[in-house]
Amino acid sequence: MTFRAALIEQTVTGGRVQDHRAELADLDDDFLAGSGGDSPVDIDVLYSGINYKDGLALAGKPGVARTSPLVPGIDLVGEVRTSADARFSPGDAVVLTGGGIGESAHGGLAQRARVSAEYLVKLPEGLTPGRAAAIGTAGFTAMLSVLALERGGVQTDAGRVVVTGSAGGVGSVAIAVLAKLGFEVTAVTGRADTQGDYLHRLGATELLDRQEFAETGAPLQKRRWAGGVDSVGSATLANVLAQTDDGGTVTSCGLAQGHDLPTTVMPFILRGVTLAGINSVTAPRALREEAWARLAGDLPVELLDEMTQEIALGEVFAQAEKILAGQVRGRTVVNLAS
Ligand SMILES: NC(=O)c1ccc[n+]([C@@H]2O[C@H](COP(=O)([O-])OP(=O)(O)OC[C@H]3O[C@@H](n4cnc5c(N)ncnc54)[C@H](OP(=O)(O)O)[C@@H]3O)[C@@H](O)[C@H]2O)c1
Repeated sequence: MTFRAALIEQTVTGGRVQDHRAELADLDDDFLAGSGGDSPVDIDVLYSGINYKDGLALAGKPGVARTSPLVPGIDLVGEVRTSADARFSPGDAVVLTGGGIGESAHGGLAQRARVSAEYLVKLPEGLTPGRAAAIGTAGFTAMLSVLALERGGVQTDAGRVVVTGSAGGVGSVAIAVLAKLGFEVTAVTGRADTQGDYLHRLGATELLDRQEFAETGAPLQKRRWAGGVDSVGSATLANVLAQTDDGGTVTSCGLAQGHDLPTTVMPFILRGVTLAGINSVTAPRALREEAWARLAGDLPVELLDEMTQEIALGEVFAQAEKILAGQVRGRTVVNLAS
């Protein structure tokens, strides 16, 4: 049986991507032979998504696609066709974010997938496949960040929390969840002029220009935040840390500004600030199930719908360029049936 897929073919020499090609292909089941390890699960994929990482892979930037040829797509939502793992049965609705798909193993931007069961999660009650894909890695990561703030003891009455990269996928979901939970949210954005109303609708009560955070500042600054969710890194994260109140927690998941962190130990040793790292790719099953259950309850679906646009498989190449250019708002879902 043949199925439609996006396919990346490239050679990498000395860390540099050469001869990158990304295009639609008609593949057959043999192409997936050997995928999914010893107990693979075959899935009819209904939806995937475009995350920042997918943008990098599709556009031929180094560091994401680790094998060639590769079906990209770090997310998939679909229905189990067959399973060699006893935890899953034909007909189960499942979601997989990360776990190496779309990087070292074939991913979700295809109508069929064969994956390892290790990181596969059954869709929580009440979440449709399309909305689960809308959440995807970005939304899942936002919820992991919220859970880290909670575990750090950040309470709604402790003061404001700050979200950077706020009109992006992680940022949008983080704002919507934090506001629903009762936090006062400040959104840091470079797009207040075009996305200000959107960010307010998600629940942000204050907007700040990301330029204010773009340059390295003093190691300790005026206390402003009880906590923070950062997907930007670099000077932005350093400034958030320097402005975080005593005992606060700041999460770090991304590097949209840069992978450096020009900070000092001062926020940690003089204010007891915690920097919590977030890695969605290999998050263990128990944490995944907790995060998905919380997403089903704590993310208002009308806001999720507002932050989501749906595209067809053939549109993923143009969307990759847009997400890297910072032109995508919120989340992009890829409908594999269209
Ligand atoms: N650790 C993990 O497991 C994990 C999981 C998911 C994502 N991530 C990472 O998290 C980051 C965000 O992912 P995403 O899917 O939310 O991407 P996204 O939708 O592209 O959002 C990124 C946002 O960052 C802001 N931004 C872009 N360039 C910037 C710059 N030079 N300086 C400051 N802000 C900038 C923009 O927000 P405004 O337009 O509002 O300024 C942009 O919308 C990426 O680096 C991604 O790789 C990591």
